[in-house]
Amino acid sequence: ATERTLSIIKPDAVAKNAIGEIISRFEKAGLKVVAAKMLHLSEEQAGGFYAEHKERPFFKDLVGFMTSGPVVVQVLEGEDAIAKNRDLMGATNPKEAAPGTIRADFAETIDANAVHGSDSPASAEREVAYFFSADEICPR
Ligand code: CMP
Repeated sequence: ATERTLSIIKPDAVAKNAIGEIISRFEKAGLKVVAAKMLHLSEEQAGGFYAEHKERPFFKDLVGFMTSGPVVVQVLEGEDAIAKNRDLMGATNPKEAAPGTIRADFAETIDANAVHGSDSPASAEREVAYFFSADEICPR
C-alpha cells in the first residue's frame, strides 16, 4: 500500500554535506519527498520526539547529538515506504549495517548514525504529525 514515513537526516550527515546523496537514494528507490524542512532542534523538540527512549541509558546522549547541529526532516511517500526506507537505511548500528545501505556508507557510530526512519505505521503517523502540519505536506 502507499504509505508515508518520517525521515530525518541527522546532524552528522548534514555536517558531511551528504543531504543530496541521501535524498537521491530515496528518490532512486521510488520514494517521493512530499514535505521537507531544515531545523536546528531544541532539547524539548528532540526529547519529545524520542520520548519512547526516555528511560534508556543513551537518551541524554541521543538528545545531545540530535541538538548538536541542523537536521533535515522529510516526509517520504510511496509503496511500502516505511519498510523501504528502513531497508535503505540499514541496521541502527552502522557496524552491523549491510553494504550499500545509508548507514554503512555514511555513518560511523550507533549515536551518529546518519538517518532516522519511522519503524511502524503507528510511529510514522505520530512522527509525521510531530514535525508537519497537514498543509505542509504536498501530495504529488
Ligand atoms: P534512531 O533510529 O534515530 O532511534 C533512536 C536512536 O538512538 C537510534 O537511532 C540511535 O542513533 C540511538 N542509539 C544509541 N544507542 C542505542 C542503542 N543501544 N539502541 C538503540 N538505539 C541507540
